[in-house]
Amino acid sequence: MMKSPHVAIVGATGAVGVEMLLCLEQRNFDLGELTLLASARSAGKKMKFRGEEIIVKELTHDSFEGIDIALFSAGGGISLEYGPSAAAAGAVVIDNSSAFRMDEGVPLVVPEINPEAAKNRPKGIIANPNCTTIISLMALAPLHEAFGLESVIASSYQAVSGSGAQGIIELEEQVSAITNGREFTPSVYPRQIAFNVIPQVDSFTENGYTKEEMKMANEGRKILELPELKVSCTCVRVPVYRSHSVSITAKFTRPPSVEAARAAYTGKPGIQVHDDPANMVFPVPLDTTGKDDCLVGRIRESLVIENALDLWVVGDQVRKGAALNAVQVAEIL
Ligand code: A2P
Repeated sequence: MMKSPHVAIVGATGAVGVEMLLCLEQRNFDLGELTLLASARSAGKKMKFRGEEIIVKELTHDSFEGIDIALFSAGGGISLEYGPSAAAAGAVVIDNSSAFRMDEGVPLVVPEINPEAAKNRPKGIIANPNCTTIISLMALAPLHEAFGLESVIASSYQAVSGSGAQGIIELEEQVSAITNGREFTPSVYPRQIAFNVIPQVDSFTENGYTKEEMKMANEGRKILELPELKVSCTCVRVPVYRSHSVSITAKFTRPPSVEAARAAYTGKPGIQVHDDPANMVFPVPLDTTGKDDCLVGRIRESLVIENALDLWVVGDQVRKGAALNAVQVAEIL
């Protein structure tokens, strides 16, 4: 086993990279050394870690000598180009992009659900799932264990920080423009995001679903090892700063009940039940912002589909949906 590994963060200056630094610090990660990598634009910039300043270096193919674990979050193109170099230099790559997720030689890991999958990594690469997939599966995996998952119908409510810093800026500028009667032109999103919702996240595929929606379906099958799982999903961008919410109808092979569903979460790490309608207790995005745990509530027996539950799950997509999950994978190494 590795002792106090030398960790590198590729994309350290990005939204997820910054959160990775925070997770390493807050979780007291047993770290030998930390190398921060980004584009040439950021080389020389100083970032704080555990009270010390670390100078950001430019990412090159030679950046990975002596690195034990490389956390990648600089987009799929960078992962495809530099991930294999890092693995060849002997680092275990934990990649937050979608580049390797469906590669058969690359495990796709949520530590609370399939930690053992991380052990078998013939390419030296482990993939971090899509944020909406992780948050949905945090709610679904305990129910799958209890009742046997058969199919999923879901709608997501995804925060603008999922589009990086630019998403937040666009929302703020539009709110300001509208409330001050100024003209504006959307650029990050295809339509106005302020005071609106947009039923399109990522580009459309041939079957009419978006890539984001197909990620939910395909990644869920791989992680739960349910190749026949049926998933139908609508991903929606909403004018929320941070934390994704997902409304899910899940059908099971064995009859579920609300009580048994709530009990299924008992003792499960990373997910808490906030479900007391009589007292207006249900999760909202602001409840999970900056937090590690996902929250599940509004658990009901479906009025339409037999052996199905309706539920609502919320999680911080920058954290559990990306940075935290990657750091947790590093921890199980
Ligand atoms: P930089 O800040 O130097 O551009 P986000 O998803 O928040 O936009 O962050 C993307 C991250 O990926 C940033 O850290 C960014 O670094 C990094 N990045 C983008 N392009 C490159 C590149 N060509 N080489 C290395 N890092 C890159």
